[in-house]
Amino acid sequence: MYNSINLTLAAKALTLIQKVIPIMCGIIGIISQKDNVVPQIMAGLRLLEYRGYDSAGIAALDSQGQIQRLRSAGKIAALATRLQKEPLTGPIAIGHTRWATHGAATEANAHPLATPKVAVVHNGIVENFQDLKTELIALGHRFESQTDTEVIVRLMSQSLSEGLDPLAATQAVLSRLEGAFALVFLLADQPNLLIGARRGSPLAIGYGDGAMCLGSDALAVGPLSNRICYLEDDDWVVLTATGATVRDRSGQEAQRPVAALDPLASVALGKSGYRHYMQKEIREQPQAVGDTLGSFLSPGEGRLALDLPFPLHETPRLNVVACGTSYYAGQVGRHWLETLAQIPCDLDVASEFRYRKPVLTPGGASLFISQSGETADTLAALRHCRAQGQRIVSLVNAPGSSIEREAEVKLLTKAGPEFGVASTKSFTAQLILLTALAVILGARRGLIPPTDESRLTRLLLEAPALMAEAISRDEEIKALAKNLVAPARDVLYLGRGPSYALALEGALKLKELSYIHAEGYAAGELKHGPIALVDESVPVIFLAPHDEYFPKTASNLEEVRARGGQVVFIGDAHGAAKIKGPLAGQLLLPPTDPLVAPLVYAVAAKLLAYHTAVFKGTDVDQPRNLAKSVTVE
Ligand code: G6P
Repeated sequence: MYNSINLTLAAKALTLIQKVIPIMCGIIGIISQKDNVVPQIMAGLRLLEYRGYDSAGIAALDSQGQIQRLRSAGKIAALATRLQKEPLTGPIAIGHTRWATHGAATEANAHPLATPKVAVVHNGIVENFQDLKTELIALGHRFESQTDTEVIVRLMSQSLSEGLDPLAATQAVLSRLEGAFALVFLLADQPNLLIGARRGSPLAIGYGDGAMCLGSDALAVGPLSNRICYLEDDDWVVLTATGATVRDRSGQEAQRPVAALDPLASVALGKSGYRHYMQKEIREQPQAVGDTLGSFLSPGEGRLALDLPFPLHETPRLNVVACGTSYYAGQVGRHWLETLAQIPCDLDVASEFRYRKPVLTPGGASLFISQSGETADTLAALRHCRAQGQRIVSLVNAPGSSIEREAEVKLLTKAGPEFGVASTKSFTAQLILLTALAVILGARRGLIPPTDESRLTRLLLEAPALMAEAISRDEEIKALAKNLVAPARDVLYLGRGPSYALALEGALKLKELSYIHAEGYAAGELKHGPIALVDESVPVIFLAPHDEYFPKTASNLEEVRARGGQVVFIGDAHGAAKIKGPLAGQLLLPPTDPLVAPLVYAVAAKLLAYHTAVFKGTDVDQPRNLAKSVTVE
């Protein structure tokens, strides 16, 4: 069983600082009255590394007011090694960890990008960079990188050369940029000035004692700050060592809420003795699911409760929109929303939805699911729906994130910060929330009588214990990973109903983490194509709880066996009793009600991918080419 005391403490600590906004590329800037801030910049970059880890860099002002820079391809550790040999110090500095969009992950493309006058760190994409570059080249600028970001630093240099003061120059530069950005500028000869700006990508101000900072999220600014303020879109901010002045797009001073940041912000961020964050986060799942469900329980009544600003249960149609793993959670959610609440649901991948001119039902609602609350496509889809008059519901793990802020109904998972790039606890927290929502809406629609509502609530309450039981099968799952999955070149995952979504998610996790080619399929679709892939070298993993779909899934299993495929059965004892004949592998999970089976099977699927990746020796927490959250299209 998981260590509930430790997890409770960690979860409580982290719940206090849940303004966590995971994002692609991490940026940080610190300005202090006296201290050398480079060690703090490095500490902040380590906390931000899960967002991007292609390359990293720092720029600081030396005692002569000159910009000094150190950059390195690869992870923060490579930068730290360089820093030992080529020390950099200064009371004002900026840092960046990169997820490459324009230009390969080389030192020349690493941030900060700089001229002698200014250095910048950037998260986002400047969409009109080609036009700006042409214009700047015509003015005599010589570009040194392939990045879109370099136009920002050169525009700023140009404005300063033309005699604009730093504030006017900032405004001039921002007015020229199209696309998304969070930026921090460090200016030569300006030892008491850092300038930040955001449009699309998040940026927070941290208020400390004798120091101020800017960072991509609360985790980065937390160790130095006791208060935090999130900039709004098109805000920019001028920071000194003692304060911050926020301005809006027009340059007018703007007041933004400043919230207390608990000192616990910096605790429990390590791996707590686990080898990987993913391993730790897999084990935190029962806690994350319990905490999420707990926030919907009315005290003393054992019933699910939810205050809604409008009657969501009466919506004529619900569009469910998300990306990646959150989309697969949405697929399970749609199943229960249709089954239990009989609400007509559409499900879309956000990047497709926003461009395919969806026909929205007048008076309908749209539900946006996102761990980070910042995924660019999901946010754009939300804005599209809002502009069309839809009621907006968000389901995020990051309070304060853009998707949450822009929604009318704000549903929150309580998974706490998730550092492994592969979603684990945030996914199962989404599953329990969506299932609970379906029960709540079904009851409000009069489809679930009170006795059934209590029964379903009890079933949901049992989920954390069942998940912990699945976690306890760790050694068996490890053996399956070692003997069957890790040696494979291709793997198929099959399931029906909610287990189809789990098959998709299981395959996604395997390919993300181990780089083994994997496909998830609806088991019934097997004979329409993927069966051609089946031979004795291909493990075919059946996710088959003993539910209403089981007899059909069992038939598909026989079809694979008849063709010599390596059948791996993940099910329960009831199902196993009905499967005759040899299996290449078997994992028996606790028998569950179909309502909570996805939560239990998700645990097994993630552990299988995790152990396979460990056997393959890949980078489990930071798989190549991936980012935790994608703020570009
Ligand atoms: C990235 C991550 C995935 C995540 C997806 C959606 O691709 O690597 O793990 O599922 O973005 O992110 P969101 O934060 O919107 O859930």
